[in-house]
Amino acid sequence: MAVHPTDAVHAAATPQRQAVFPRGARFDDGWLTALGGVAAADLAARFDTPLYVLDADELVGRIRAFRAAFDGWEVAYASKALCVTGVLQLAVAEGLSIDVASAGELATAQRAGVPAARLILHGNNKSMAELELAADVGVGRVVVDSIDELDRLTRIVERRGHVFDVLLRVTPGVDTSTHAFIRTGHDDSKFGFTLSTGQAADAVARAAAAHGVRLLGLHCHLGSQLLTSDVYVRAAGIMTAFLAELGDVHGVQLQELNLGGGFGITYTDETPAAVVDHAQALRVAVDAGCRRYGLPSLRVTVEPGRSIVGPAGVTLYEVGTVKALEGGRTYVSVDGGMSDNLRPALYGARHTFAPAGPPRAGPTQRVEVVGKHCESGDFLGRDVAVPDDLRAGDLLAVAATGAYTHAMSSNYNRLPRPAMVLVGDGRAQLLVRRETIDDVLARDQVVTPEPYTR
Ligand SMILES: Cc1ncc(COP(=O)(O)O)c(C=O)c1O
Repeated sequence: MAVHPTDAVHAAATPQRQAVFPRGARFDDGWLTALGGVAAADLAARFDTPLYVLDADELVGRIRAFRAAFDGWEVAYASKALCVTGVLQLAVAEGLSIDVASAGELATAQRAGVPAARLILHGNNKSMAELELAADVGVGRVVVDSIDELDRLTRIVERRGHVFDVLLRVTPGVDTSTHAFIRTGHDDSKFGFTLSTGQAADAVARAAAAHGVRLLGLHCHLGSQLLTSDVYVRAAGIMTAFLAELGDVHGVQLQELNLGGGFGITYTDETPAAVVDHAQALRVAVDAGCRRYGLPSLRVTVEPGRSIVGPAGVTLYEVGTVKALEGGRTYVSVDGGMSDNLRPALYGARHTFAPAGPPRAGPTQRVEVVGKHCESGDFLGRDVAVPDDLRAGDLLAVAATGAYTHAMSSNYNRLPRPAMVLVGDGRAQLLVRRETIDDVLARDQVVTPEPYTR
């Protein structure tokens, strides 16, 4: 096995790498020994692997940081990042509103006891059933994404007399330098009404005139994993200018502006702007826009998802096969993969790794960490430093896996989805129980093959 002399002596995680793990993580000689006061080995023994672990201190700390930095603005947790009942319970107890994008996310929010007024419903293709549910529940804001959706709302209004409070989703034409799959604020997008073509102004006029639809403001969302504030500042300028134009030219005065989420986090070596710096830059930009265009003071909302839950999450895997190719790479296979974390395979996303459990001193090697699925693209990390003697039965921890992992998980190869636990104060609470093979089979129906096999 190839030993890198510079990495010699201590195993995998450097202090810089350790900083990517949540605040409740404890290390000894580069090994992750505990999370939230619970030994990593005990978590694996009690709940099995793969295991999603959420650090309660990190999660609550991040929520509080957002609330403090954006004091006076509404902070809505974008539940698509991780939508499980217990997490929404914590978010709402800490004063967040909740953004949902489907009937399933809405039902989870209801189960978590989120007050309806604090719900924001998104989606570029909300069904009639989802909009009916929004009316039943009385969600605080529906963010209208298309004229088709406006028509659907009007049909519901005519039938049952419900009045919807809505924002209109606008694509402000701000391009971001993030992965194409997580860019949404540019003109060529399936989301929202394009500002530059006049489509957004037409939609505002239609919505403002629609019976039973109370148009309160505008929404935009630029993309995800955005590391700097400049794109938000540009969007705030464009959106306040557009609000002014709507008042001056179309006689429509709107008082709300939702600037979406997208605040980036550290996965390996990224240096995202701090939440306070984003907040400061955004406040200055919105205030400047309001002053310049003589707008009234606005009710402003931000919708962080990844930056609330991402850094709080760690996935624990058990190492299975270790395959060293003659004169080539070493493949370390773990007991999960693209079914519990699609991000590396989908976007080429990178993560930080550490061996977990009781430490063993020794040199390191560089390996490919791969999953157990039948795809060559099923990798979790490339060129990852791990202990030179890493072997079957060892635990491997992956940092910053709280967002868009469980949320995008699948049963590929009929793998049951992992459990998720919340750790803190030396205790572990189950957030989501592990799926069983019976769960996986539960919806399958036994058919009568004969008519087709004769
Ligand atoms: C409308 C909207 N708001 C908020 C978010 C959350 O983004 P992030 O998790 O990057 O903060 C998204 C993500 O796609 C979104 O579409």
